[in-house]
Amino acid sequence: MTFSGRHVSLPYLRIIYSVVLIILTAEKAVSIRFPDQISENVKASSNQPLKTAVFALGSFWRSEAVFGCLDGVVRTTAGYAGGSKANPEYRSWGDHAESVQIEYNPRLITFRQLLEVFWSSHDSRQVFGQGPDVGNQYRSIIFTNGTEELRLAAVSKDREQTASKSSIVTTQIQQLGKFCPAEPEHQKFELKRNPFLLQLMGNLPEDELEKSTLAAKLNGFAAELCPPKVQQQINARIEEIIRKGWPILREV
Ligand SMILES: *[C@@H]1O[C@H](CO)[C@@H](O)[C@H](O)[C@H]1NC(C)=O
Repeated sequence: MTFSGRHVSLPYLRIIYSVVLIILTAEKAVSIRFPDQISENVKASSNQPLKTAVFALGSFWRSEAVFGCLDGVVRTTAGYAGGSKANPEYRSWGDHAESVQIEYNPRLITFRQLLEVFWSSHDSRQVFGQGPDVGNQYRSIIFTNGTEELRLAAVSKDREQTASKSSIVTTQIQQLGKFCPAEPEHQKFELKRNPFLLQLMGNLPEDELEKSTLAAKLNGFAAELCPPKVQQQINARIEEIIRKGWPILREV
């Protein structure tokens, strides 16, 4: 059978058309909301459990976006850490610092690489602040868990201080303690300012959005904090979807 020319009879075309229509309709029906299960599958299939890192480097809206785009980062959460106040809240954080918790696959990205991103993503010489954000809650901290992470953090800070002869690197190194997640409105903040991207993901409910690897990535994209190559890749994917009129972005 051929699709071109007179060999295809009208009844055949009708059948083909109906089958295509049924497939498209079925696809559409299941694609209305896509629960982001991709990362869960990666997690389940890998024997190595995820690791957790926490950093403070200024506003947690931005910090979450900085790390969300990296390959190997499975989840990001904005929150409060480094202080002693029992139940910190926004504008009532006590002595905590705005922080980001990063869950990552150590086979794809290492603590050392996360440290490099930490240093290159803020000005560690600024005292208690980043740019217009001034205050104790914006201080710079590396949280470490265990002697190896402590060693890596100390080595990286020494290197940073050596490179910065005229000013003091203010970054503190603290033992990882309790991390208190921030309120939902502070999670994936940059992504939530972009209703178009939220719609492309199928308008996930809050709890799914917070766990989603794709949302972490698009949060970085929305803030234009992904590496330039990744920004371009995601842009191209989105344009492709718009061209096709196919509404759901499943992965980037
Ligand atoms: C510290 O690391 C250990 C071993 O990797 C892990 O079991 C533990 O959950 C970590 N602690 C925190 C607070 O993440």
